[in-house]
Amino acid sequence: MSTRKGIILAGGSGTRLYPITHGVSKQLMPVFDKPMIYYPLSVLMLAGIREIAIITTPGDADQFRKALGDGRQWGVELSFFMQESPDGLAQAYLICEDFLAGAPSCMILGDNIFFGHGLPEILQAASAGHGGGTVFAYRVTEPERYGVVAFDAAGTATAIIEKPQAPPSSYAVTGLYFLDGTASRKAKDIRPSGRGELEITSLLELYLQEGSLSVEKLGRGFAWLDTGTHESLLDAGNFVRTLQQRQGVQTGCPEEIAFRKGWITGEALSSIAAGLSKSDYGRYLKQLCVEEGF
Ligand code: G1P
Repeated sequence: MSTRKGIILAGGSGTRLYPITHGVSKQLMPVFDKPMIYYPLSVLMLAGIREIAIITTPGDADQFRKALGDGRQWGVELSFFMQESPDGLAQAYLICEDFLAGAPSCMILGDNIFFGHGLPEILQAASAGHGGGTVFAYRVTEPERYGVVAFDAAGTATAIIEKPQAPPSSYAVTGLYFLDGTASRKAKDIRPSGRGELEITSLLELYLQEGSLSVEKLGRGFAWLDTGTHESLLDAGNFVRTLQQRQGVQTGCPEEIAFRKGWITGEALSSIAAGLSKSDYGRYLKQLCVEEGF
């Protein structure tokens, strides 16, 4: 089986964050001490994924290239694709059809933040899955804002409904989708929804109907935050700050993940740290080098 590839969906116009997104893409907004996209990028890296497509808009692409480069500094390979207009999450599999070339994938939304003990193990297990798909459900207070899972009495997922007026459960489908190599082909069979979008939930329904979708609940020990409004953006920043300040360890730090996975050398880490030495982020990387003997 071919190696799983990653997709970060960082398109959209960020209208719910206006006016702060007039000049800068939403997924480059700071979440405390780093750009938002570092967090989903870190999730893919924790899943062991190194070949990653970033889908952005034609107007924002240069900002992303400037912020992220080609990924070599983190031992990954980033390539950039354009979504001309926000026509839905499932369109990502059409845009990336040639990039994926039939490989299994993990797509993550550029504004989703995941945190929790054991997350790397969960990601690696999902990534190792053969055939079908794996998605994660998380209990939220406002399920009607999301794709929502319906479960039968035995707790098996029976449907996934996009922004239902009467949610069948409190479990939202998070923006992290492990799908097999048939995703692009399946995406061609989807028709736009009432809001004119190729919905990710329509694609997941196809997997569900063929009995190949695993819906795993993330328990109360996890945080799944989205950052699409002014309040949730600030909440996410405060959450990250609280954790990092208390523990003295970073969350969403691609340099540390790359180093611990052996994708970059201690010397490379040390040189990145030197370039960031005036920020706490850079000082953290420097401290990591010292602890590891570089
Ligand atoms: C999208 C998906 C939805 C999913 C959510 C997760 O919603 O359509 O199924 O639950 O992301 O963040 P949207 O961002 O389009 O509101």
